[in-house]
Amino acid sequence: MKLIGNASVQVGETAVETANLVAARISQQMTDQPASVLGLATGGTPVAVYQQLVRLHRQNGLSFSRVHTFNLDEYVGLAADHPQSYRMFMREQLFDSVDVDPERTFVPDGVASDLAAAAADHENAIRDQGGIDLQLLGIGQNGHIAFNEPGSALDSRTRVVDLTSSTIQANARFFADAAEVPTRAITMGIGTILESKSIVVMATGAAKAEIVRRALVGEETRDCPASYLRRHDGVTWYLDREAASQL
Ligand code: GLP
Repeated sequence: MKLIGNASVQVGETAVETANLVAARISQQMTDQPASVLGLATGGTPVAVYQQLVRLHRQNGLSFSRVHTFNLDEYVGLAADHPQSYRMFMREQLFDSVDVDPERTFVPDGVASDLAAAAADHENAIRDQGGIDLQLLGIGQNGHIAFNEPGSALDSRTRVVDLTSSTIQANARFFADAAEVPTRAITMGIGTILESKSIVVMATGAAKAEIVRRALVGEETRDCPASYLRRHDGVTWYLDREAASQL
């Protein structure tokens, strides 16, 4: 573990080793505090983390029965049962394979008739649980965290946002037809994320090396929303060798 600014940085040899370190951190949080409030992320990066958490549940009895979970974001226009919705992703990767109470899993409602109210509901539900204890984050190649694209404000809250064309393109890999990729999302804000007690950011692969460098040691700017994470003194970055190669 080394320090860069006030961030702790832990480097794993491979992506799988890095995911296992993250899963160990989350499981430690749940052991210390079984009624933890966990902030969860989607994307390709955390898939191996969820696989390891499912293994720890099955083999070591790690229990999710008392946790509440809050996901960072959801696509506007995709219902909970849409195969590419983030709600479905979470069910497939984690929720349906562990003993979490579905009523305690919160993902913003991307098909609400009043999207602004759905965003406010997510924010209020987090507050009702006393805030997030441990928030898991990935990072987009343009420096976004959750769906806070470049230009997002430091004090932004959960809201409806337009996705940039580079993010839409990056997410097209999950959809059969590029025209189906949603162009808007409900996302927790940067201000919301920074209120979490601890934050774990995970990045793997050479394609993330440049943005990891900018986020950790580049200029702090709204052009790279992840650079705002240095405002928080409880952030740990978990990187594999490739993602750490420009530090
Ligand atoms: C999406 C998600 C982010 C995620 C990012 C990176 O846009 N909204 O939460 O961190 O993609 O995804 P990946 O891990 O697939 O690179």
